[in-house]
Amino acid sequence: MARSDSGESVLERVVRVLEAFTPEAPALAVTEIARRADLPTTTASRLVAELVGHGLLVRDEGRVRVGTRLWELGARASSTLSLRETAMPVLEDLHRAVGHHAQLGVLDGAEVLFVERLSADRAVINLTRIAARLPLHASSSGLVLLAFASTTLQERVLARPLVGFTRNTITDPGVLRTRLAEVRERGVALCPGYIHLDATGVAVPVRDGAGHVVVAVSVVVPNDGEAARTVPALTEAARRIRDRLAR
Ligand code: PHB
Repeated sequence: MARSDSGESVLERVVRVLEAFTPEAPALAVTEIARRADLPTTTASRLVAELVGHGLLVRDEGRVRVGTRLWELGARASSTLSLRETAMPVLEDLHRAVGHHAQLGVLDGAEVLFVERLSADRAVINLTRIAARLPLHASSSGLVLLAFASTTLQERVLARPLVGFTRNTITDPGVLRTRLAEVRERGVALCPGYIHLDATGVAVPVRDGAGHVVVAVSVVVPNDGEAARTVPALTEAARRIRDRLAR
């Protein structure tokens, strides 16, 4: 692998260039990419030109965006995509029944990565997007995925500062430990106002044929004390997704 004077590989730099794009900043000037990727502008400019040549990035009115080719390569053989396709008819039924937002989240590193979300007009505020992440301790999907994750990951999360989004987010490791045990026992995580005071997340685990929790299915509904009513629909959705995964 070619290395720069700093000893970094070109690939490491390319990854940082690609990571510069976010849902909030999907179109960036090269100088901004350089700043975000911590690269000299000349280097960023050269890497962007090569990536554009391969169709992985595209130029758009003086800015640069992620190219469809990058999506195509990522999606073509993605296990996430097949999980999403298997779960989609069930997620649509759940969304019809509950309204607001229905979503699928998977564990990735020490975060939950949302791989699908269905929303509605006038739905309650939701800070998650498809391909966006939340910390495990702060969201219902995250609590479910963490509760059934390895003890190594649990201890790693418990040992770090737990960042609060609102006054309701769990920031005390002792409280988090107790909540994880409850989630394992009850098979559901209910998080009123953890991410935003107006919204409640409710999530349940989905297991694969071998019994491993592979995805959390969740809804985000208003924080009006009624969110627990969604649990039967969520439990049914999790059962149906498990059956479809096992086939
Ligand atoms: C949650 O999963 O608890 C959650 C996620 C996103 C929100 C609100 C709640 O915007």
